[in-house]
Amino acid sequence: MTIAVTAATGQLGTLVVDALLARTTPDQIVAIVRDAAKAEPLAAKGVDVRIAGYDDTAALEAALAGIDRVLLISGNEFGKRTQQHRNVIDAVIANDVSRVVYTSAPQVDTSTLPVAPEHLETEQYLASTAVDHVVLRNNWYHENYASAVETAAATGSVLTSAGDGRVASAARQDFAEAAAVILTTDGPVKRVYELAGDVAWTHDDLAAALSEVVGKPVSVANVSADEQSAILTSVGLDAGLIGFITGVDAGIKQGDLELATGELSSLIGRPTTPIVETLRSLA
Ligand SMILES: NC(=O)c1ccc[n+]([C@@H]2O[C@H](COP(=O)([O-])OP(=O)(O)OC[C@H]3O[C@@H](n4cnc5c(N)ncnc54)[C@H](OP(=O)(O)O)[C@@H]3O)[C@@H](O)[C@H]2O)c1
Repeated sequence: MTIAVTAATGQLGTLVVDALLARTTPDQIVAIVRDAAKAEPLAAKGVDVRIAGYDDTAALEAALAGIDRVLLISGNEFGKRTQQHRNVIDAVIANDVSRVVYTSAPQVDTSTLPVAPEHLETEQYLASTAVDHVVLRNNWYHENYASAVETAAATGSVLTSAGDGRVASAARQDFAEAAAVILTTDGPVKRVYELAGDVAWTHDDLAAALSEVVGKPVSVANVSADEQSAILTSVGLDAGLIGFITGVDAGIKQGDLELATGELSSLIGRPTTPIVETLRSLA
């Protein structure tokens, strides 16, 4: 069976390829990337590297020739992603690929997160086709809090407007292993997985973890969205990024990331990595 991974040079894609290499042989893995030079380490592992950007429909169709299963890793060019993902799905259909696995976002049908609409549109497009598909709704990465480690070390504080909202984040490595499990499973799988860490934490819990990692007390500045915007403006962040951060915190506050289903630990056969462990590795 030949398994392709798109965005294979990204942080998640690289880990997925490694997780596949632990389960199958390099000649069964195809890395679909847009940048050949960046893919040299993948080629060195014996993986077949094919070049196709998400905007290049002809290249995508050629890259998916002879593929049995593909992991479509969502892109990171906001505003362009629905069409880009559709391009990959159309190439899947053109090549009769037997299954596509898509990395989506938690509870996309109700989520208010700024990232949700393009994921929902992609899921809806998949559902409108006859293609066998599996959706991995990945919760937040622990690694999204790398900058919180730096800030906590410098200021002893973590800023949020998420109130008591909880985040069931997990390590990228755990999501990568789950994707590899699904891609190599021959038995029945579900249509939609809500993949999340075993623990849904509040920002007080995050501060406790950060405190352990940076070795000094860390407090939470839990403010309103307006206050958060003003503080972030005063330290020079641009309006677009501030809107994204406050939008994410508003989503967290209303529970968009709180669902700890246990499905991730169940797929990877072990408890998910605690956030404190990932934060320690990032410090
Ligand atoms: N769950 C979360 O917390 C979270 C956080 C951030 C992002 N995400 C989503 O999960 C995806 C994977 O995460 P990640 O950490 O691996 O992100 P990443 O390291 O930023 O990787 C994004 C990948 O998308 C590829 N890509 C972007 N635009 C493309 C295009 N037009 N054509 C082909 N490839 C394109 C990039 O190619 P290059 O390698 O050539 O740059 C890169 O490999 C992200 O793209 C995003 O959709 C989720």
